[in-house]
Amino acid sequence: MYNVTLIPGDGIGPEITEAVKAVIDAAGVKICWDEQEVGQKALEKYGDPLPKHVIESIRANKVALKGPVTTQIGKGFKSINVTLRQTFDLYANIRPVKSLPGVNSIFNNVDIVIFRENTEDLYAGIENAIDDDRVEAIKVITRKASRRIAQKAFEYAKAHGRKKVTAIHKANIMKKADGLFLEEARKVAEKNKDIKYEELIVDNACMQLVQHPEKFDVIVTENLYGDIISDLCAGLVGGLGVVPGINEGQEFTIFEAVHGSAPDIAGKNIANPLALILSAVEMLKHLGEDTAAHAIRNGVFDLLKRGKNLTPDLGGSATTHEMTKELCSLIA
Ligand code: NAI
Repeated sequence: MYNVTLIPGDGIGPEITEAVKAVIDAAGVKICWDEQEVGQKALEKYGDPLPKHVIESIRANKVALKGPVTTQIGKGFKSINVTLRQTFDLYANIRPVKSLPGVNSIFNNVDIVIFRENTEDLYAGIENAIDDDRVEAIKVITRKASRRIAQKAFEYAKAHGRKKVTAIHKANIMKKADGLFLEEARKVAEKNKDIKYEELIVDNACMQLVQHPEKFDVIVTENLYGDIISDLCAGLVGGLGVVPGINEGQEFTIFEAVHGSAPDIAGKNIANPLALILSAVEMLKHLGEDTAAHAIRNGVFDLLKRGKNLTPDLGGSATTHEMTKELCSLIA
């Protein structure tokens, strides 16, 4: 039995976390879910969008599975996602983007793993209103954070038989900030000469990604570029409904899908739960439950290949419940 903090989150979050619980049950893994509320719901109930008891729960369990949390645009409390990543020093946001069988997309040969630095850059949240007509947002890039995300990317590449790491940057414009990021990436590359290393300016990288995604292997990049590139890459393999995510630090790991709370489809029972289910597959691997992880992954492949009982984003007309039920029976 494992203790895992479960944050269902907002919008489609509760619907897809229920699906994950059912699928893990079907795979026979016993998890004691410590369910916690954050965001607006927690603010109304406890007067704090990220209450202390939630932090303590994650601190005790060391592993959390998190649904998406809504962040208001241009106002409201600081993003819970960003705060959690900073609080637990979850410095690596790892996003494996792989073509899936049966998913209708332009490409069928994408296999990219994105390493996005998760704790600094413009997400440091340092914004100053100088006067009514001028606001400054400060981009923070440190040697330490740049080095450790590059190390993580190269370590992963080595451990998983990957051939190349591409550092994505805009050092032609942000010569000092992105220059520092590149300096550290180059040092790490120098120590890992068995892995090919290349650098691309972010705009060029975006163009190449949509033309020739098969040329990319492991990507390492800063927080903002990583955020944008992750969604772009999700679009290459069938959309946000199928891309998992891992927020990893030294001691704590939070698993979550790349997508947000999708308010446009919330409560309609049509959200695709696969991205969070695939994030849970990564969680099971992390917990050492490899057999169950493979069983769920194979179940997802079978489901997609059969092409029946899929949610509308995948071209079907099934509900979240129907798709989950089908997946559970394939796993069982
Ligand atoms: P979003 O990812 O929620 O939605 C973008 C589009 O993709 C929408 O059309 C939505 O219906 C669709 N979509 C997303 N997930 C889907 C799924 N599982 N199945 C089917 N369709 C899906 O992005 P948006 O609209 O920009 O953000 C909404 C809220 O989510 C915002 O408050 C944002 O701050 C928050 N957000 C939270 C994240 C997190 O908790 N990690 C990550 C990204 C956004």
